[in-house]
Amino acid sequence: MIAIQEKTVTDEQQVQPAPPCVMVIFGASGDLTKRLLMPSLLNLARGKLLPDEFAVVGIARRQMSSDDFRAQMSQDIQEFATGSVDRDTWDWLAQRLYYLSGSFEDANSYQQLAKLLAQVDQERGTGGNYLYYLATASDFFSKIVRQLGDVGLAQESEGHWRRVIIEKPFGNDLDSARNLNQNLGSVLSENQIYRIDHYLGKETVQNILVFRFGNGLFEPVWNRNYIDHVQITVAETVGVEGRGGFYEGAGALRDMVENHLFQLLAMTAMEPPLSFDAGALRDEKSKLLHAILPLSPEAVHSQVVRGQYDEGTVKGKHISAYRAEPRVAPDSNTETYVALKLMIDNWRWAGVPFYLRTGKVMPKRVSEIAIQFKRVPHLMFRQTSVERVTPNFLVLHIQPDEGISLQFGAKVPGPVVRMDTVEMDFHYHDYFGTQPTTGYETLIYDCMIGDATLFQRSDNVEIGWSVVQPILDAWKASPPSRFPNYAAGSWGPQEADQLLERDGRHWRKIDG
Ligand code: BG6
Repeated sequence: MIAIQEKTVTDEQQVQPAPPCVMVIFGASGDLTKRLLMPSLLNLARGKLLPDEFAVVGIARRQMSSDDFRAQMSQDIQEFATGSVDRDTWDWLAQRLYYLSGSFEDANSYQQLAKLLAQVDQERGTGGNYLYYLATASDFFSKIVRQLGDVGLAQESEGHWRRVIIEKPFGNDLDSARNLNQNLGSVLSENQIYRIDHYLGKETVQNILVFRFGNGLFEPVWNRNYIDHVQITVAETVGVEGRGGFYEGAGALRDMVENHLFQLLAMTAMEPPLSFDAGALRDEKSKLLHAILPLSPEAVHSQVVRGQYDEGTVKGKHISAYRAEPRVAPDSNTETYVALKLMIDNWRWAGVPFYLRTGKVMPKRVSEIAIQFKRVPHLMFRQTSVERVTPNFLVLHIQPDEGISLQFGAKVPGPVVRMDTVEMDFHYHDYFGTQPTTGYETLIYDCMIGDATLFQRSDNVEIGWSVVQPILDAWKASPPSRFPNYAAGSWGPQEADQLLERDGRHWRKIDG
C-alpha cells in the first residue's frame, strides 16, 4: 500500500515503481477511464510509481486510432485530473497510450489484442506482464475473462504475470456472485483476481486499521464492555445521476450496503489480523461477516428500513422524485435509502448493535463511523442535568472532512461543577496537507505489485451477499407499501429514526 501525498512518498524512500507492465482497460471509452483511471495513472506517474516500461492499451467498441485516444484523454485529463496537470508528466503517460477498437464478444478482438500486446512488449519492454482492468458493464466480466483465456492471454508462466481487476457490481445476489466466482475461477487462479471496492482505496478507510491496531489506547476499550453501539453512515447529496437504468436493478442495498458499508463494518469490528497481509486481513474480514446474526423474515421487517426519495430540495436546489428520473419506472419500488441494525454474534460484540444507513439526496455528503461509548454508571455531579451528560462519541470521519473526533464531557468554567460536551478534533488535512487523489491510485499500484490486501477475496464477496440475501428475499416477497417515503434533502424516512428510538437511541446529529 502507498500514500500518494508527496510527504509520505518522499519520506519513505522504499516505495518503488511498479514492475514493467501493460494496463489493458476494457471499456476505455467510458466514464470510469476518463474520470478515475487516467487521473489515477497521472498521480502515480507524478509520484514516480510507474516504471518507464509501462503502457496502457484501451479497448472499446468505439472506432478510434491510438492517436485519437491520446487526443481524447489529453482533453479529458484537463477536466478530471485531481490537481493541475503537469505537462511533462502527462506527455510521459500520453506517449504510452494505445487503443484498439473491438467488441468484447468477438474472438477476433482478442486475436488483435494479443498482436498489439506483443508489439507493445517489443516497443516498451513491458515483459508480457498484463493487468486487465474490466471497466465494463458486469455482464461482460465472465465473457472477457473466458476469451482472454481462449487466446492464451490469461495464463501466467515463468517470468510474467496476468492479473484482472473486476469492478463492482460483483453479482446481483448470492447465486450470481457464486456463478461469477466460478466462471472466473475456471480461467484464473484466485491470486490473479482483484475484486475492487473503491472504499478500500480511501486513506481514511485504511486508517481505521492503523487507528485500531497501531495505538495501544483504543483497542482495550473496543468491545462490548465499553461500547454501547456503533453507527455507520454513508450519506450522499447526489441522486442517481443519469444511472437510472443501472440503479433500477440495483438499489441502495446492492449498490452500497453489501460492499462499501460492509467494508467499513468489517474494518471497524474485525479481530486483529495476525499480520498485515492479504491472507490474514481477508480471513478476519470473512470471520466477522460470518458472525453477523442472520436475519429472519421477521427480523428483516423489524430491523431493516428501506426508503425512496420524493421531490425536495438539496443545498437550495430542487430535486425531482426518484420515480421521475430518466429510465426509472414511474411506480418503481427500488430503494434509494437503507437503514439496518445488525448484531454480531461473537465474544467481542455480543449485545452491541451496529446501525448502518446510506441514502441518496441527503442534506450533506458525509461518511462516518460513530462509536458511542457506554454512559458512566453513576453521576455524581448534582448540578448537571442528565441530558447534558452526553455519552462519549468517537467519530472516524471518512469523507469529505477526513479526520477523527472525540466527544467528551468537560467542566464548564465557574464556581459550581457543571458539565458540558466538548470535542477534540483531528483533521487529516491540517496535519498531513494531503493532496487530492481519486482513491484508485493505491488499488492500481497494489495490483501491479501483486498485493491483494485491499481487494476482496471470493469468500468475502459471497459472505457479504449471504448477509443481504434474506433482505432481498423478504423485500421481494413484500413490496414497499408507501414509496416514496422521504423528501430529497431530508435524513431519510421516519422509520429509520424509529429503528433506533425503539432501542432508546438516536442517530448522531450531523450538521448540514
Ligand atoms: C458507487 C456507487 O460504488 O459508490 C454509487 O455505485 C455511489 O451509487 C458511489 O454514488 C459513492 O462513492 P463515493 O466514493 O463518492 O462515496
